[in-house]
Amino acid sequence: MKNIILTGFMGTGKTTIGLELARQLRRLFLDMDTEIEARAGKSIERIFSEDGEAVFRGMETRLCQELSTQQGLVIATGGGTLVAPDNRALLLQNGIGICLDAHPDEIARRLQGTRHRPLLNVEDPKAEIERLLAARREAYAALLWHIDTTGLSTRAVVQRAMEIAAVITLPVRSPDGTYEIHVGNGLLAHVGDAIRACGGGLGSPVALVANPTVAQEYAGQVEASVRAAGLSPALCSIADGEAYKTLDTVAGLYEQFLAGGLDRSGTVVALGGGVTGDVAGFAAATYMRGLRLVQVPTTLLSMVDSSVGGKTGVDLPQGKNLVGAFKQPAVVLIDPSVLATLPPEELRSGLAEVIKHGIIGAPELFAELQLGHGDLTSWWGDQGATHVAWALEVKIEIVEDDPFEQGRRAVLNLGHTTGHALERLSEYTLRHGEAVAIGMVAATQIAARMGRANPTLVDTVRDTLSAWGLPVRCPPYDVGAIWQAMEHDKKRRGKALRWVLPVAISRVEVTEDVPREVVTSVLQEMGASAGSTSPDRRTARKPGAEQAVEKESIDRDDV
Ligand SMILES: NC(=O)c1ccc[n+]([C@@H]2O[C@H](COP(=O)([O-])OP(=O)(O)OC[C@H]3O[C@@H](n4cnc5c(N)ncnc54)[C@H](O)[C@@H]3O)[C@@H](O)[C@H]2O)c1
Ligand SMILES: [Zn+2]
Repeated sequence: MKNIILTGFMGTGKTTIGLELARQLRRLFLDMDTEIEARAGKSIERIFSEDGEAVFRGMETRLCQELSTQQGLVIATGGGTLVAPDNRALLLQNGIGICLDAHPDEIARRLQGTRHRPLLNVEDPKAEIERLLAARREAYAALLWHIDTTGLSTRAVVQRAMEIAAVITLPVRSPDGTYEIHVGNGLLAHVGDAIRACGGGLGSPVALVANPTVAQEYAGQVEASVRAAGLSPALCSIADGEAYKTLDTVAGLYEQFLAGGLDRSGTVVALGGGVTGDVAGFAAATYMRGLRLVQVPTTLLSMVDSSVGGKTGVDLPQGKNLVGAFKQPAVVLIDPSVLATLPPEELRSGLAEVIKHGIIGAPELFAELQLGHGDLTSWWGDQGATHVAWALEVKIEIVEDDPFEQGRRAVLNLGHTTGHALERLSEYTLRHGEAVAIGMVAATQIAARMGRANPTLVDTVRDTLSAWGLPVRCPPYDVGAIWQAMEHDKKRRGKALRWVLPVAISRVEVTEDVPREVVTSVLQEMGASAGSTSPDRRTARKPGAEQAVEKESIDRDDV
């Protein structure tokens, strides 16, 4: 268990908050200043006056070394301890660092009448507070987690510290270095601090990209956090929907970036679902040859899938995802509580990919989903972060292994061979996740038919998908048309038709060796028609769907 390290300027409440936090978490509390005084046998004031500041700082560093080998403590540092990069590196290698901030006036007020602060034994303490705060600003900004304690009760600060302590952090190795994904409720309030911690300089421009649906709910909160961190946000709007995942939208973003003064010191924040992440990510990859990108996914699909792996891009009239770039984010912040406003059908669609990750490589996650009984609220309640992190771990492990999609990443295509064909035949009235759900049942049934999987696996997969409200029957499309649509994909990609077959929960096989008769008979059993009727094209279309994707289009995988 990692230590929790509270740092910040004097008077920000490190000791008070630390004691209360340790009490609530039932952990041991250690105040570094008190510990140093005990070991030296004299007060810090006397160490400063008799031995000098350098001796005190040496004692501090030795204590940091010691504490970096311990676990599970709540530690309050001295105000200047983590200003030294070496101390910071030591304590953070085994700890979550939280910086408590407060307005200089509030600090002056809190410190009024205290006399044992050697650094403030000066004529004008308020001016000295401001000078020291400015000198330490960059060192404090290197810490990801901040709580502004101005005007907050001890209880409220402890509450926020507990939220931060519960955040799940997943490091991701990429060809451009390692970045971190943080998952936890309340993280929208930390976007600004995260940008500062990954190099966004004070006052630098931030383009906050969102569509009106998401902006209305969440842009205010994110913008406030960006402003509070001393950055200059500009809200950049894109239209809502896959139909607008286009080069025109990207061009519109470039214009807004220019108008907002975004230069190479700036940051692009993608706040939204997969469409926003792909479009804003592509704009960040190309504008001025590439700027820092922060992903803040707000749909389940974008949390567990599209925000990891570095793929960004847009559609062309000829097909989906045909133009794009690999662009790794500087950091990803996932706040599952935003899923509370996501329409249930969108949440379900994302769940198909989560269940897919369970089948590919997360047996405990799959077991939990089997027990979940379709309770959608579990995705944004207490368990939300744990579930999202589980699903993410599968994708992280695979993209680390195959960052440029040259081999192993193919397993993420489970359910997509049939899924993409059904999605296209439905003219996108079937959601991606719904089509993938049907595709996963088909793949499992094919595996069973070919003797690769136990027939009970089909029931397990089907029951789990349908418990979460996902479709498991094939629409009554002509089986020949489905086959043709799959072949069409294959032809365009210049590869053989490839199948990902579940062999057991958490074991899949990739094969090109599946006879057409097996596929057609399985699809017919699942509801496809044997006749020559073409798929029903009279069903209502998703608004704008035909604009983005023509009948004869190609789908580049976006798994
Ligand atoms: N880059 C990749 O690796 C990758 C992987 C998978 C999918 N994708 C892409 O992702 C896209 C699909 O993403 P998606 O499913 O997130 O769709 P989406 O981005 O269109 O979002 C779905 C809908 O939910 C709304 N929404 C988003 N967050 C909300 C919230 N918290 N509350 C209320 N409404 C909210 C959006 O405005 C939108 O209307 C596709 O374009 C696909 O190609 C990319
Ligand atoms: Zn997919």
